[in-house]
Amino acid sequence: MDPLLAARFPGVRSRNSPAQRKGTALHPVALNTCSPDETRRLGEALARCARPGGVLALYGELGAGKTVLAKGVAAGLDIDPRNVTSPTFVLMVRHAGRLTLFHFDAYRLADGNGLLDIGAEEMFFGKGLCVIEWADRVADVLPDDRIDVRMSVSGAKERALALTPTGPQSATWLRGAMDGLKNT
Ligand SMILES: Nc1ncnc2c1ncn2[C@@H]1O[C@H](COP(=O)(O)OP(=O)(O)OP(=O)(O)O)[C@@H](O)[C@H]1O
Ligand SMILES: [Mg+2]
Repeated sequence: MDPLLAARFPGVRSRNSPAQRKGTALHPVALNTCSPDETRRLGEALARCARPGGVLALYGELGAGKTVLAKGVAAGLDIDPRNVTSPTFVLMVRHAGRLTLFHFDAYRLADGNGLLDIGAEEMFFGKGLCVIEWADRVADVLPDDRIDVRMSVSGAKERALALTPTGPQSATWLRGAMDGLKNT
């Protein structure tokens, strides 16, 4: 593991080679977090480097930590994370911040039509930052260039994460966020 990352962010263990971390290709970045706080810090790092129109698609079982990550994103956008909870029944909550956060929860949807009905396309391609919990439910309407975040429970306090950029904007975004994480 990168000694700098190990020193500055002790709970995170990256499984990627240095060449992969430096590259511009769409390689996944694999991380482990050892506490909810570390997952929040990852969310913050992603938010700090986000550009308008950024989309984070979150995948993972119940309790994987999707909302914890979303709270970190909120904090990184100067939004009070206490106001961020899974919007399972309303599908989307908008939070005003440095960028507007559009927080979706697609748990109850069978496909993306329910999101199109509430105007999600405008949000995906707008000036805010979209975070979508249960993104697998709405795979048919996700934008092409986004960061896919796959999360799984690997211990009581441990979560395994794989972050995959799916286009050039998100590759640059992810690289910036990983550099930011090293410097926290
Ligand atoms: N490393 C970790 N990262 C994130 N959450 C963790 C971690 N370790 C333990 N947890 C706990 O796991 C739970 C994650 O809950 P969270 O609501 O974020 O899950 P979720 O993926 O959004 O679930 P749901 O699909 O029900 O909305 C929290 O209780 C949190 O404290
Ligand atoms: Mg949730």
